[in-house]
Amino acid sequence: MRVLSAMQPSGQLHLGNYFGSMRPNIEMQKSAERGFFFIVDLHALTTIQDGKLLRQLKEDAILDYLAAGFDPAKSIIFEQSKVPEHTELMWILSTVTPMGLLERAVSYKEKVEKGIAANVGLFTYPVLMAADILLYQADQVPVGKDQKQHVEMARDIAGKFNAVYGETFTVPEPVIRKEVAVVPGTDGQKMSKSYGNTIPLFGDEKAIKKAIMGIVTDSKGMNDPKDPESCVIYKIHTLFLDAAGAKTLANDYRNGLPYGDAKKRLFEAYMDHFSGMREKRAKLTGKHARDVLDAGAGEARGIAGKTMEGVRKKVGLI
Ligand code: ADP
Ligand code: TRP
Repeated sequence: MRVLSAMQPSGQLHLGNYFGSMRPNIEMQKSAERGFFFIVDLHALTTIQDGKLLRQLKEDAILDYLAAGFDPAKSIIFEQSKVPEHTELMWILSTVTPMGLLERAVSYKEKVEKGIAANVGLFTYPVLMAADILLYQADQVPVGKDQKQHVEMARDIAGKFNAVYGETFTVPEPVIRKEVAVVPGTDGQKMSKSYGNTIPLFGDEKAIKKAIMGIVTDSKGMNDPKDPESCVIYKIHTLFLDAAGAKTLANDYRNGLPYGDAKKRLFEAYMDHFSGMREKRAKLTGKHARDVLDAGAGEARGIAGKTMEGVRKKVGLI
């Protein structure tokens, strides 16, 4: 079973990203065959048009992911743009992709509604994503619900190509991550960097403590019984606990645990879980990241090159 996943470099990672996407992907990495994990810098160009910023985001992202547990022994880790076969295959796939298929893309429509300029790259984004997946003959692509349609488009495009030119591509399966019920932010809404309500994974410890101490609560008195189910501190804290731990904590809330203490406990749980990762992040060097990425790109190109040789023959380029 070949598993492939990819991420956009999009800024400081937070608990929502970790529990919603990174941790399940790291778990899947442990499956039998060596997987693929890459940073989609070419996709990022559809929304980030500042070279210095993209370079910085990419470097941070790769250090974050390596510290968080993406392991070059288990996955080939690389940057999309260092394997030019992605864009070559994208062009070839675009010639068998019906306009109507792309016109149905929900994510494109949403981005345009949000005010992102409707450039051609944004429109053909799903074809590049199909190339990312088909190039490596991936069987499974773990994604969040929001990306399901894109993986289905990759399936359609693989089917189209196979129908026109004969069996060439593995038709990939989206594996939709079980919703870790949306992780709430410090204000109780969905945690998102666009809302400024995040608890970051890395960076200054004081800032993390401040974010946790700033979580909204209702106005119950110090020792009043609290309702765990409606409490944001509790909801975030349970991400770190098993069922039994969550039950015990809920009882403490009902028995009047003061919110200040509840926040301190959450901070401790956070530190217990992430301190190892955070220490690793502080020690990782740019040079180490560069070495991992260079080795990964070399390995990925070997595999991508083989797929492309077959494709070029089939379509008549060689
Ligand atoms: P943000 O909303 O901060 O911009 P992204 O859209 O970059 O986050 O998120 C990347 C992935 O992280 C998403 O596809 C989703 O799977 C996961 N994710 C982000 N925020 C949350 C959240 N609050 N709860 C659960 N998962 C989340
Ligand atoms: N579109 C995906 C996202 O925004 C990122 C992505 C690009 C991707 N190519 C991919 C994900 C290939 C999985 C497989 O999250």
